[in-house]
Amino acid sequence: MGSLLWLISLSSLALKSALGGDVCVSGHDSGPVFEEQPTSLVYPEGLSQGKVTLSCQARASPAATYRWRVNGTEVQVGMESRYALVAGNLVINSPQPARDAGSYQCLAVNRCGAIVSRAANIKFGCEPPRLPPDARSPQTAYEGVGTFLACQPPTHYPALSYRWFLNEFPSFIQPEDGRWFVSQVTGNLYLAKAEPNDTGSYFCFTTINMEISTKSTFKSMHLTTRRYQDHDKETVLSLFSHGIEEHIWPSVQNAMSSPLSLGFTLGLGITGYLLASGLGALVLVSGWAGLVYYCCHKLYTEFVRDKLQTDMQDIVASYMSQPDDGFWVAETAGEGKVVGMVAVVAKKNGAERYGELFRMNISPSMRRVGLGSRLTQTVLDFCKQRGMTKVVLETSSSQTAGIALYQKMGFKH
Ligand SMILES: *[C@@H]1O[C@H](CO)[C@@H](O)[C@H](O)[C@H]1NC(C)=O
Ligand SMILES: *[C@@H]1O[C@H](CO)[C@@H](O)[C@H](O)[C@H]1NC(C)=O
Repeated sequence: MGSLLWLISLSSLALKSALGGDVCVSGHDSGPVFEEQPTSLVYPEGLSQGKVTLSCQARASPAATYRWRVNGTEVQVGMESRYALVAGNLVINSPQPARDAGSYQCLAVNRCGAIVSRAANIKFGCEPPRLPPDARSPQTAYEGVGTFLACQPPTHYPALSYRWFLNEFPSFIQPEDGRWFVSQVTGNLYLAKAEPNDTGSYFCFTTINMEISTKSTFKSMHLTTRRYQDHDKETVLSLFSHGIEEHIWPSVQNAMSSPLSLGFTLGLGITGYLLASGLGALVLVSGWAGLVYYCCHKLYTEFVRDKLQTDMQDIVASYMSQPDDGFWVAETAGEGKVVGMVAVVAKKNGAERYGELFRMNISPSMRRVGLGSRLTQTVLDFCKQRGMTKVVLETSSSQTAGIALYQKMGFKH
């Protein structure tokens, strides 16, 4: 498995500077929480001027920084002049269907965490109905009686909200002035008292509200790290097993792509071809791949089985009975769901005391939000407090994400 040994020297642990002072101070700082999230909208196709604003505001201490993604790719706000970031809001000038249609998400980040907003879709619709000027003639309105313009929205979009603008986008009619009323049921524009200067071209502007996606895409990073408790056992064991089993495929790929193995595979293919035919080659090569998969699978599942019967059988006894050992879980603040874990065991080498980090595992749904750094930090703080000089950990070279994290946290190879 090609284990590597990673070391960190706590005495020279200039962690603050290594992380740019990016350490969340519990009780003082707080992670971002959305106050405003973007909503989906339909932009009238054919409008050459104009702009779209997607809202994003988050409460956070220290203040959050914002990034945007379209279809999962980062929006290059600084690079393209048609984008502007106003506070957290993304403004797109002169939006065009070919470039700007897509699913947008806002990311709010501070040193305590990151949150991802719901997805808001920008779609381009046909130009809203332009009513001929004679569709409404000047008329005398009596108290409570007025005129109205029908919006005739496109029927295939659900849950529209309606606004009207007069002559030019985006000079929206403000219903607040009392003379106007826009029905959010039909989209119709009602005018209580028509005046001669109301003559003009009226446009109905429709917006889709797709609140449905809110729940599934909202990821809150309000996590607490705490000591393991007995009632966490089931979740922790399942997190552990799944985390280890995830390594099966990467290790099969690793094994199959080594030069020796590639040579062997090629040799088998040629032998099979010479002995039988193309089918013979296929049978031998897939038999070989199957064998590699079987071995890797066995190796990891046996590792899991072995650990479930030893240290993970009684986590409290294995990791929490000595004052210098520890086992922590990270749980989501709202639901109290355990989504990550880490353990440390104190070791001795002559007079030197150091900690060994074990069982780092993060639920797949919570990766890439800085949880790994936080769990590692918990261990580093703990070991430092107890006067240990370094923390070591073993990892396999196929765990590239883990290695990148540990390097970022100051571990040396
Ligand atoms: C985003 O994906 C949609 C649907 O696949 C596509 O129509 C649109 O052009 C994409 N937008 C961008 C900016 O990549
Ligand atoms: C239209 O005329 C009324 C008075 O008749 C005035 O109060 C209002 O401001 C005018 N509106 C515009 C857009 O000029």
